[in-house]
Amino acid sequence: MGVVRHHWVGDDKIIEAVEQTGSVIGASKALGVSREALRHRIRSRALEEEIEAARLRHKGVIHEGADRASIYSTEPDEWTTDLREFVKRRGLDPDDWVILRTRLNEWGTDEEPMTQIRVDLAPKALEALMPARAEGWKPPKKLPSLPKREGELVAFFGDQHCPHHDVDLHAAACQWLRVNKPNRGILIGDMLDFDSISRHRYNPEWSRSMQECIDTAYGVLKDYKEASPATQWQLLSGNHEARLRNAVIDSLLNMYGLRRAKVDDEQIGESVLSISHLLRLDELEIEWVNPNGDYEHAQIRVGENLAARHGWIATQKSGTTALKTLEHLGHSVVVGHSHRMSEVFLTKHDIDGNTETLTGVECGTMAKIKQGLGYSVAPDWQAGFATATLFDDGKFNIDLAKFINGNLMWRDQRIVVEDVGTGT
Ligand SMILES: [Fe+2]
Repeated sequence: MGVVRHHWVGDDKIIEAVEQTGSVIGASKALGVSREALRHRIRSRALEEEIEAARLRHKGVIHEGADRASIYSTEPDEWTTDLREFVKRRGLDPDDWVILRTRLNEWGTDEEPMTQIRVDLAPKALEALMPARAEGWKPPKKLPSLPKREGELVAFFGDQHCPHHDVDLHAAACQWLRVNKPNRGILIGDMLDFDSISRHRYNPEWSRSMQECIDTAYGVLKDYKEASPATQWQLLSGNHEARLRNAVIDSLLNMYGLRRAKVDDEQIGESVLSISHLLRLDELEIEWVNPNGDYEHAQIRVGENLAARHGWIATQKSGTTALKTLEHLGHSVVVGHSHRMSEVFLTKHDIDGNTETLTGVECGTMAKIKQGLGYSVAPDWQAGFATATLFDDGKFNIDLAKFINGNLMWRDQRIVVEDVGTGT
């Protein structure tokens, strides 16, 4: 008996047939080949994962990588108030998934209305998130002294979006820290990207696991500490850090605030699913500025007349966000969030004609600008950071550190990345 040879259709046709029929058996019938031959073909072409994804799509499950899946149905008869049951009907084990959110989508016309229920899921990997760990952090035994200067130098670093931070800017910023050793450093928020628990559509090309975000951000913070050990750091929550808090509240509410067991008189520890714990901020001696609620309310009083916030306003063009925030708050402020850089002013006159000039600052971003973090097309963002010199009488002066084509420029200093090398 001769060997039967198939003239195989392309892989995409095989995947399409499985998606349409829901099984390898159904696809073999549709393609007119034996199921054994088709199974052999799938194995030899290493299509197993794509076939499984196609089978799930047939069932109405969109599996979007390790961190996300969605199930949907346009059949109201199938909907149930028991979402676990709905998850089960799609062939998934409800104990393996947490429900991120449920949406009812409506479209069509009055004559032909269409309704769809969609349930977004994430694997219970959140429970397995581990604190960042490298070789650990050991603070230097003796802190080097800070340079003598008039006033206190405060650096505002923000919107790193780890692991999408700009490694060149990071190297230059660490060199700047080694040279200038600021008294204080304020991390303005969005240190971590946490794309995989975003409410926006999943973007496989850009998405990174939460663990990678945590491990990378820890490495960046450790570099800051090593570059200037005597600098006192504080970390503000941004909207991207808030994604962890929101995911826990939405999906694992009973785990919100869960801590390790208390031993004897040990102080109550921090929540295991918190930014502070996962980034090992206690070891790094970085203060987590807990907003006691949503991130929008977190503020650091930098000096007598200057505050820092992550910021909750983002408008187009450099300066407009700073001005709107300044007008809203009524006092001088440094913000991130917009990824733009600016310093704007607002002069107020009181009833006696006395003037007060307020300052609003956007401190730029320390993330890669090219490709706009996978969502913004040719973004009008500026890379760098800001500093403030605080004088004893409450006055302060802002300087912007601009990172342009591999050059970090601040006051009369210029750090060229080629001379420094990339840090991470
Ligand atoms: Fe940001």
